[in-house]
Amino acid sequence: MVRFLGFGAGLVFVIALLVAALLPREDVPADPIKAIHEHARSAHWQHDGPLGMGVFGTYDRAQLQRGFQVYKEVCSACHGLRLVAFRNLSEIGFSAAEVKALAKAKEVPSINPQTGEAATRPALPSDHWPNPFPNEVAARAANNNALPPDLSLIIKARPDGQNYVYSLLTGYDKAPPKGFDVPQGLHFNPYFHSVNIAMAKPLNDGQVSYADGTNASVDQMSKDVVAFLRWTSEPELETRRQVGVGAIIFLGILSLLAFLTYRRVWAGIAH
Ligand code: HEC
Repeated sequence: MVRFLGFGAGLVFVIALLVAALLPREDVPADPIKAIHEHARSAHWQHDGPLGMGVFGTYDRAQLQRGFQVYKEVCSACHGLRLVAFRNLSEIGFSAAEVKALAKAKEVPSINPQTGEAATRPALPSDHWPNPFPNEVAARAANNNALPPDLSLIIKARPDGQNYVYSLLTGYDKAPPKGFDVPQGLHFNPYFHSVNIAMAKPLNDGQVSYADGTNASVDQMSKDVVAFLRWTSEPELETRRQVGVGAIIFLGILSLLAFLTYRRVWAGIAH
Protein backbone atom coordinates (compact mmCIF):
# COMPACT_ATOMS: atom_id res chain seq x y z
CA MET A 1 0.00 0.00 0.00
CA VAL A 2 2.75 2.45 1.04
CA ARG A 3 4.69 1.56 -2.04
CA PHE A 4 1.61 2.19 -4.15
CA LEU A 5 1.07 5.64 -2.57
CA GLY A 6 4.73 6.51 -3.11
CA PHE A 7 4.49 5.50 -6.72
CA GLY A 8 1.32 7.60 -7.14
CA ALA A 9 2.96 10.69 -5.62
CA GLY A 10 5.99 10.26 -7.89
CA LEU A 11 3.71 9.94 -10.88
CA VAL A 12 1.96 13.20 -10.03
CA PHE A 13 5.32 14.98 -9.98
CA VAL A 14 6.40 13.44 -13.25
CA ILE A 15 3.17 14.48 -14.94
CA ALA A 16 3.45 18.00 -13.53
CA LEU A 17 7.02 18.24 -14.86
CA LEU A 18 6.01 16.96 -18.27
CA VAL A 19 3.11 19.39 -18.52
CA ALA A 20 5.36 22.29 -17.46
CA ALA A 21 8.00 21.29 -19.98
CA LEU A 22 5.59 20.93 -22.87
CA LEU A 23 3.42 24.00 -22.27
CA PRO A 24 4.27 26.83 -24.67
CA ARG A 25 6.36 29.50 -23.00
CA GLU A 26 5.57 33.16 -23.04
CA ASP A 27 7.98 35.10 -25.18
CA VAL A 28 10.32 37.33 -23.19
CA PRO A 29 9.49 40.81 -24.46
CA ALA A 30 12.38 42.23 -26.53
CA ASP A 31 14.30 45.02 -24.80
CA PRO A 32 13.24 48.18 -26.71
CA ILE A 33 16.53 49.91 -25.78
CA LYS A 34 18.55 47.15 -27.45
CA ALA A 35 16.74 47.81 -30.72
CA ILE A 36 17.68 51.51 -30.62
CA HIS A 37 21.22 51.13 -29.28
CA GLU A 38 23.86 51.32 -32.00
CA HIS A 39 27.35 49.85 -32.13
CA ALA A 40 30.29 52.21 -32.37
CA ARG A 41 31.29 53.34 -35.85
CA SER A 42 34.88 52.52 -36.78
CA ALA A 43 37.14 55.44 -37.52
CA HIS A 44 40.65 55.37 -38.93
CA TRP A 45 43.29 55.84 -36.23
CA GLN A 46 46.65 56.80 -37.62
CA HIS A 47 48.46 55.59 -34.48
CA ASP A 48 47.15 52.06 -35.06
CA GLY A 49 49.14 51.74 -38.27
CA PRO A 50 48.17 50.12 -41.58
CA LEU A 51 44.71 48.46 -41.56
CA GLY A 52 44.37 49.46 -37.90
CA MET A 53 46.32 46.32 -37.00
CA GLY A 54 47.83 47.97 -33.94
CA VAL A 55 51.24 46.48 -34.66
CA PHE A 56 52.95 49.52 -36.14
CA GLY A 57 52.01 53.18 -35.93
CA THR A 58 53.07 56.09 -33.77
CA TYR A 59 51.14 59.00 -32.30
CA ASP A 60 50.78 62.14 -34.35
CA ARG A 61 52.15 64.76 -31.92
CA ALA A 62 50.24 67.59 -33.60
CA GLN A 63 47.00 65.65 -33.21
CA LEU A 64 47.73 64.86 -29.56
CA GLN A 65 48.30 68.56 -28.88
CA ARG A 66 45.05 69.47 -30.61
CA GLY A 67 43.28 66.79 -28.57
CA PHE A 68 44.79 68.15 -25.39
CA GLN A 69 43.48 71.59 -26.34
CA VAL A 70 39.96 70.16 -26.74
CA TYR A 71 40.24 68.40 -23.37
CA LYS A 72 41.60 71.52 -21.66
CA GLU A 73 39.10 73.95 -23.15
CA VAL A 74 35.98 71.76 -23.11
CA CYS A 75 36.05 68.44 -21.27
CA SER A 76 38.15 69.53 -18.27
CA ALA A 77 35.20 71.62 -17.04
CA CYS A 78 33.60 68.35 -15.91
CA HIS A 79 36.10 65.51 -16.32
CA GLY A 80 39.34 64.96 -14.40
CA LEU A 81 42.56 63.43 -15.71
CA ARG A 82 44.09 62.29 -12.46
CA LEU A 83 46.79 60.03 -13.90
CA VAL A 84 48.39 62.76 -16.00
CA ALA A 85 50.98 65.04 -14.38
CA PHE A 86 51.70 68.32 -16.14
CA ARG A 87 55.28 67.22 -16.79
CA ASN A 88 53.96 64.20 -18.74
CA LEU A 89 52.77 66.68 -21.36
CA SER A 90 56.38 67.11 -22.47
CA GLU A 91 55.99 63.64 -24.03
CA ILE A 92 53.46 65.00 -26.51
CA GLY A 93 55.76 67.80 -27.58
CA PHE A 94 55.36 70.66 -25.10
CA SER A 95 58.60 72.38 -24.04
CA ALA A 96 59.60 72.65 -20.37
CA ALA A 97 58.57 76.32 -20.35
CA GLU A 98 55.17 75.52 -21.88
CA VAL A 99 54.61 72.77 -19.30
CA LYS A 100 55.44 75.23 -16.51
CA ALA A 101 53.03 77.80 -17.91
CA LEU A 102 50.24 75.20 -18.36
CA ALA A 103 50.72 74.07 -14.74
CA LYS A 104 50.82 77.60 -13.37
CA ALA A 105 47.48 78.41 -14.96
CA LYS A 106 45.75 75.77 -12.78
CA GLU A 107 45.16 75.90 -9.05
CA VAL A 108 45.61 72.78 -6.92
CA PRO A 109 44.48 72.18 -3.32
CA SER A 110 47.06 72.99 -0.69
CA ILE A 111 47.44 74.01 2.97
CA ASN A 112 48.26 77.53 4.05
CA PRO A 113 51.57 77.08 5.93
CA GLN A 114 50.78 79.97 8.32
CA THR A 115 47.27 79.07 9.36
CA GLY A 116 47.00 75.39 8.47
CA GLU A 117 43.77 76.18 6.66
CA ALA A 118 42.88 74.57 3.34
CA ALA A 119 44.02 76.79 0.48
CA THR A 120 45.06 76.56 -3.16
CA ARG A 121 48.31 77.29 -4.97
CA PRO A 122 49.36 77.40 -8.62
CA ALA A 123 50.24 73.90 -9.85
CA LEU A 124 53.81 72.74 -10.46
CA PRO A 125 54.90 70.48 -13.34
CA SER A 126 55.01 67.56 -10.88
CA ASP A 127 51.34 68.03 -9.90
CA HIS A 128 48.65 65.95 -11.51
CA TRP A 129 45.79 67.49 -13.46
CA PRO A 130 43.36 68.75 -10.79
CA ASN A 131 39.83 67.40 -10.68
CA PRO A 132 37.24 70.06 -11.57
CA PHE A 133 35.13 69.11 -8.53
CA PRO A 134 36.29 68.74 -4.90
CA ASN A 135 34.50 65.39 -4.52
CA GLU A 136 31.85 63.09 -5.95
CA VAL A 137 28.97 64.82 -4.16
CA ALA A 138 29.92 68.18 -5.68
CA ALA A 139 30.39 66.56 -9.10
CA ARG A 140 26.96 64.96 -8.99
CA ALA A 141 25.34 68.13 -7.67
CA ALA A 142 26.63 70.01 -10.71
CA ASN A 143 25.63 67.33 -13.23
CA ASN A 144 22.04 66.40 -12.59
CA ASN A 145 23.16 63.65 -10.21
CA ALA A 146 25.36 61.94 -12.85
CA LEU A 147 29.07 61.48 -12.28
CA PRO A 148 31.44 62.55 -15.07
CA PRO A 149 34.10 59.81 -14.98
CA ASP A 150 37.82 60.54 -14.89
CA LEU A 151 39.02 60.26 -18.48
CA SER A 152 42.62 59.08 -17.91
CA LEU A 153 41.81 55.43 -18.68
CA ILE A 154 38.43 55.74 -20.38
CA ILE A 155 39.69 54.37 -23.71
CA LYS A 156 40.79 51.19 -21.97
CA ALA A 157 37.75 51.07 -19.70
CA ARG A 158 35.24 50.74 -22.54
CA PRO A 159 35.17 47.96 -25.15
CA ASP A 160 36.46 49.27 -28.49
CA GLY A 161 37.18 52.46 -26.53
CA GLN A 162 38.44 54.73 -29.29
CA ASN A 163 35.59 54.06 -31.69
CA TYR A 164 33.11 54.17 -28.82
CA VAL A 165 34.13 57.56 -27.45
CA TYR A 166 34.41 58.94 -30.99
CA SER A 167 30.90 57.69 -31.83
CA LEU A 168 29.54 58.99 -28.53
CA LEU A 169 30.91 62.50 -29.11
CA THR A 170 29.62 62.64 -32.68
CA GLY A 171 26.36 60.80 -31.92
CA TYR A 172 24.18 63.57 -30.56
CA ASP A 173 22.57 64.65 -33.81
CA LYS A 174 20.37 61.61 -34.32
CA ALA A 175 16.74 62.13 -33.40
CA PRO A 176 15.16 59.55 -31.09
CA PRO A 177 12.74 57.16 -32.82
CA LYS A 178 9.08 58.23 -32.88
CA GLY A 179 7.32 57.62 -29.61
CA PHE A 180 10.55 57.34 -27.61
CA ASP A 181 10.53 59.71 -24.67
CA VAL A 182 13.87 61.00 -23.53
CA PRO A 183 13.69 61.47 -19.74
CA GLN A 184 14.03 65.03 -18.55
CA GLY A 185 17.60 66.18 -18.03
CA LEU A 186 19.01 63.43 -20.22
CA HIS A 187 20.09 63.54 -23.86
CA PHE A 188 19.50 61.04 -26.61
CA ASN A 189 22.63 59.28 -27.85
CA PRO A 190 22.25 55.85 -29.48
CA TYR A 191 25.86 54.89 -28.71
CA PHE A 192 25.46 55.18 -24.93
CA HIS A 193 24.42 51.86 -23.37
CA SER A 194 21.08 53.19 -22.11
CA VAL A 195 20.72 55.58 -25.10
CA ASN A 196 20.02 58.43 -22.63
CA ILE A 197 23.12 60.17 -21.37
CA ALA A 198 23.39 62.84 -18.70
CA MET A 199 26.19 64.62 -20.62
CA ALA A 200 24.83 67.32 -22.92
CA LYS A 201 26.38 67.53 -26.40
CA PRO A 202 29.86 68.78 -25.45
CA LEU A 203 31.23 69.76 -28.89
CA ASN A 204 29.90 72.08 -31.55
CA ASP A 205 31.58 73.10 -34.80
CA GLY A 206 34.29 75.71 -34.24
CA GLN A 207 34.25 75.32 -30.45
CA VAL A 208 38.03 75.61 -30.21
CA SER A 209 40.36 77.46 -32.54
CA TYR A 210 43.31 75.36 -33.54
CA ALA A 211 46.65 77.15 -33.83
CA ASP A 212 47.71 74.96 -36.77
CA GLY A 213 44.69 76.01 -38.84
CA THR A 214 42.96 72.61 -38.76
CA ASN A 215 39.22 73.00 -39.25
CA ALA A 216 37.61 72.44 -35.84
CA SER A 217 34.60 70.39 -36.93
CA VAL A 218 32.86 68.18 -34.39
CA ASP A 219 34.27 65.15 -36.21
CA GLN A 220 37.84 66.50 -36.16
CA MET A 221 37.74 67.61 -32.52
CA SER A 222 36.28 64.25 -31.48
CA LYS A 223 39.03 62.37 -33.30
CA ASP A 224 41.70 64.60 -31.80
CA VAL A 225 40.46 64.32 -28.24
CA VAL A 226 40.11 60.54 -28.60
CA ALA A 227 43.71 60.32 -29.87
CA PHE A 228 44.78 62.36 -26.85
CA LEU A 229 42.81 60.10 -24.49
CA ARG A 230 44.36 57.05 -26.13
CA TRP A 231 47.72 58.55 -25.24
CA THR A 232 46.65 59.15 -21.62
CA SER A 233 45.48 55.52 -21.35
CA GLU A 234 48.50 54.14 -23.14
CA PRO A 235 51.48 56.50 -23.11
CA GLU A 236 53.84 53.54 -23.57
CA LEU A 237 52.24 52.44 -26.88
CA GLU A 238 55.18 53.41 -29.08
CA THR A 239 57.85 51.81 -26.87
CA ARG A 240 55.73 48.69 -26.50
CA ARG A 241 55.46 48.32 -30.27
CA GLN A 242 59.17 48.98 -30.84
CA VAL A 243 60.11 46.38 -28.25
CA GLY A 244 57.55 43.97 -29.72
CA VAL A 245 58.87 44.22 -33.27
CA GLY A 246 62.47 43.94 -31.97
CA ALA A 247 61.55 40.87 -29.94
CA ILE A 248 59.92 39.17 -32.95
CA ILE A 249 63.02 39.82 -35.11
CA PHE A 250 65.26 38.52 -32.31
CA LEU A 251 63.15 35.38 -31.84
CA GLY A 252 63.13 34.84 -35.63
CA ILE A 253 66.93 34.87 -35.78
CA LEU A 254 67.13 32.66 -32.69
CA SER A 255 64.76 30.11 -34.26
CA LEU A 256 66.87 30.04 -37.43
CA LEU A 257 70.05 29.45 -35.41
CA ALA A 258 68.36 26.73 -33.38
CA PHE A 259 67.23 25.02 -36.58
CA LEU A 260 70.73 25.17 -38.10
CA THR A 261 72.23 23.81 -34.88
CA TYR A 262 69.72 20.96 -34.92
CA ARG A 263 70.70 20.08 -38.51
CA ARG A 264 74.36 20.15 -37.58
CA VAL A 265 74.01 18.02 -34.45
CA TRP A 266 71.99 15.36 -36.23
CA ALA A 267 73.94 15.50 -39.51
CA GLY A 268 76.21 12.51 -38.87
CA ILE A 269 73.56 10.24 -37.37
CA ALA A 270 72.23 7.57 -39.72
CA HIS A 271 68.48 7.08 -39.85
C1 HEC B 1 29.09 69.90 -18.63
C2 HEC B 1 29.86 68.78 -18.17
C3 HEC B 1 30.53 67.88 -19.18
C4 HEC B 1 31.40 68.22 -20.20
C5 HEC B 1 31.87 69.62 -20.60
C6 HEC B 1 31.83 67.00 -20.79
N1 HEC B 1 31.25 65.92 -20.16
FE1 HEC B 1 31.52 63.98 -20.58
N2 HEC B 1 30.21 63.44 -19.13
C7 HEC B 1 29.53 64.32 -18.32
C8 HEC B 1 28.64 63.57 -17.45
C9 HEC B 1 27.72 64.17 -16.39
C10 HEC B 1 28.80 62.21 -17.77
C11 HEC B 1 28.07 61.00 -17.17
C12 HEC B 1 26.94 60.63 -18.09
C13 HEC B 1 26.04 59.56 -17.58
O1 HEC B 1 26.46 58.74 -16.76
O2 HEC B 1 24.87 59.53 -18.05
C14 HEC B 1 29.80 62.17 -18.83
C15 HEC B 1 30.25 61.00 -19.42
C16 HEC B 1 31.27 60.94 -20.35
C17 HEC B 1 31.85 59.72 -20.86
C18 HEC B 1 31.53 58.32 -20.39
C19 HEC B 1 30.47 57.62 -21.15
C20 HEC B 1 30.34 56.20 -20.61
O3 HEC B 1 30.40 55.27 -21.42
O4 HEC B 1 30.18 56.03 -19.40
C21 HEC B 1 32.81 60.07 -21.75
C22 HEC B 1 33.71 59.14 -22.54
C23 HEC B 1 32.83 61.51 -21.81
N3 HEC B 1 31.88 62.01 -20.96
C24 HEC B 1 33.69 62.23 -22.61
C25 HEC B 1 33.72 63.61 -22.68
C26 HEC B 1 34.62 64.35 -23.54
C27 HEC B 1 35.68 63.74 -24.45
C28 HEC B 1 34.34 65.66 -23.33
C29 HEC B 1 34.99 66.85 -24.02
C30 HEC B 1 34.86 66.91 -25.44
C31 HEC B 1 33.29 65.74 -22.33
N4 HEC B 1 32.94 64.47 -21.96
C32 HEC B 1 32.73 66.93 -21.84
C33 HEC B 1 29.67 65.70 -18.29
C34 HEC B 1 30.44 66.43 -19.18
